[in-house]
Amino acid sequence: MPPSAAPSVGPQPASSPAAPWWKSAVAYQLYPRSFMDSDGDGIGDLRGILARLDYLQWLGVETIWLSPFYTSPQTDFGYDISGHFDVAPEYGTLADCRRLIDEVHGRGMKIVFDMVLNHTSIEHPWFQESRSSRQSPRRDFYLWRAGRRPGGGAPPNNWRSMLGGSGWHHDRATDEWYWASFLPFQPDLNYRNPAVKHAMLDVVRHWLREGVDGLRLDIFNAIYKDASFADNPFSLRPLPSEDNPDGFFQRALHTQNHPDTLAFARELRAVVDEFSHPPRFVVGEVFGATDVLREYCGAEGEGLNLVFLFKTLRTPFTAPAMRSLVAELEQAFPEPLCPTYVFSNHDRPRGIDRLGNDPARARLLAAFQLTVRGVPFLYYGDEIGLGHHHGMPREAARDPLAARFRNIPGWLVPAMRRRGILINRDECRSPMPWSAETHAGFSHAETPELWLPVHPDSPLINVASQRDDPGSVLSSYRRMLALRRRSLALSGGHLELLPPLADPARVLGFSRRHEDELVWVFLNFSAREAMLDLRTAPGGSLCSNLSDEQEPVRSRRVLAPWEAVVVF
Ligand code: NOJ
Ligand code: MG
Repeated sequence: MPPSAAPSVGPQPASSPAAPWWKSAVAYQLYPRSFMDSDGDGIGDLRGILARLDYLQWLGVETIWLSPFYTSPQTDFGYDISGHFDVAPEYGTLADCRRLIDEVHGRGMKIVFDMVLNHTSIEHPWFQESRSSRQSPRRDFYLWRAGRRPGGGAPPNNWRSMLGGSGWHHDRATDEWYWASFLPFQPDLNYRNPAVKHAMLDVVRHWLREGVDGLRLDIFNAIYKDASFADNPFSLRPLPSEDNPDGFFQRALHTQNHPDTLAFARELRAVVDEFSHPPRFVVGEVFGATDVLREYCGAEGEGLNLVFLFKTLRTPFTAPAMRSLVAELEQAFPEPLCPTYVFSNHDRPRGIDRLGNDPARARLLAAFQLTVRGVPFLYYGDEIGLGHHHGMPREAARDPLAARFRNIPGWLVPAMRRRGILINRDECRSPMPWSAETHAGFSHAETPELWLPVHPDSPLINVASQRDDPGSVLSSYRRMLALRRRSLALSGGHLELLPPLADPARVLGFSRRHEDELVWVFLNFSAREAMLDLRTAPGGSLCSNLSDEQEPVRSRRVLAPWEAVVVF
C-alpha cells in the first residue's frame, strides 16, 4: 500500500521483523550544550532536552545520540571524561539522565550515548593516581615510557598525534612521558592492561544496563598502539584525511587501525550482544580506507554494527558523484552490513555550508539521506538548514582545537573547511535556534552571554518560523522522515541503481525493495528542470520532497530544480 505523505504521530522506526531495528533507524545527533537550556545558565542541559522531546517526536526522528555529558572539566566539552558514571552538574543529575532514558523509551524512541573508550581526562582519578608515582598500582592504566637520548630529553619514539606534533608529553613528577592520541589533556588508556579493558567494558555494560540503546565510539581506531613502540615509518603525506590516517610525514602504522583494535571491535560487539532485549548497537568513529572501515564490521558482521563513513563530507553534491558514492558503499557494505550517511557533526563544517547555504539543496539532501540504503545521521539544526557560524574570532574560541591550531594562517581556513576540516569547531556548535525570541529561544538567561553566541541568522532560520511553512527545509525533513518511516522498502530495503530515466548528469535514480514493496527514487541534483520518463514505473503514486500532496504517476514528470520524488 502506498504510504500517505502526511506525517504520522509516533516516530516508531519502520522495521521488518527479520532485521534488527537499528538498521532502519534514523539517528539525530544533538550536542547537549547547544540544544536547549532549561535553567538559564546559558548552557544546554538534560532538562532542556526533555523539554524538546515533543519536538523530536513531532519531527519524526526516533533515535537520538547525545554527545558526552558525563563528569568532565569540559576542556574538550565532555570528550575529556573524569567520571564515567555521573552527569556533569551543568547538564543536570543522574535522575534527569534516567528520566530522559525513560521518556525517550516511553515515546517509542531510542537513545544513544557517546562512549570515549580511548582516553580519559587528565583529571580522571585514574590518571591522577597513575601520574603520581612509577610504582602506582594504576601506573599501567596509561602508556608511560622513558624518554630517548641521554637524560630522557626526547620523546620515546617518533609517533605523531592525530593532530600533528608528538603525541608524547613529558610529566615532571616521574620524569616519564605519557601518550595522547588527541590533545595533551586526553591521555590514552592502556588496553593491553587487562584491568583497563575490564574497567572500560564495565562502563559499557553499566550504560547498557541503564537502558541505553546504542553507543557511539569516539576515535575507536586509536584504541591499540603497537606493543613494540617501534617508530612509525616515513610517509610523503603532509596531512591525514578521512580515508587515510597517514600524515605529518609518517604512516600511522603503529598508532591507528592496529590489528588488535580490529579484534577488539569483535570483543566489544560480543559485550553489546549480551543485551538483547531489545538489541543494542555500536557505531564507531574510525578513519581509513573503505576496506579498513569495513573490517571493523567483521567479515560476517560480527564487529561494530556500524561505522561512520565520512567520505560523504567530501563528495561533490552532483548526481554522478553521489551515484559513485552509493555504488561504492553498496559494494563495500553489502547486506547484511549497512552503510551510514553523515553530512554534518560536531567536528565538521555543517553540510549546508558546502551547499552554498541554499535551502533548495538542503531539501534535496534531506531526500537523499532519508531514501538511500543506510543509517542517516542528522545533526541538530540540519533540519532547519542552520548554517555555519562563520567569522567567530579564533582568539575567543571555546574549542581547544582553535588554540592548538593558532599558527595556521587565516587564509588557509576556508580551504581547509572545504576539505571538511574545522579548526574552530565552535562554528558548527551554535545554540539551536527555536524561535526569533531572545537567545533564539534557546535560553532564558538574563545575561547577554551564552556559552556560545547564537547564529546571526537565527531570527530568520529557526524552528518556529518553519514549522507551519510547507515549503520550509523543516517541512521537507519531516515529510521525508514520515515517508521513510512508513515504508519498509525505504527504511531497510535492498537498493539498486536504476538505468537512466532522466539525464544522468543531473538525476540520480535508484530503487528500494522490501519483499513485494518496490519503490523508485529520483533526485535532481541541478538548478534546472529535468524530464523524467516514468513509463515503466512500478507504482501508481508519487511523493515529492517539496509537497505533502500525493500525485498519480504519469508517463512523464518534470522534476523541478533540486526536487526529489519517490514513486510507490
Ligand atoms: C572525536 C570527537 O568527535 C571530538 O569532538 C573530540 O574532540 C575527539 N574525538 C577527542 O575525543
Ligand atoms: Mg543550563
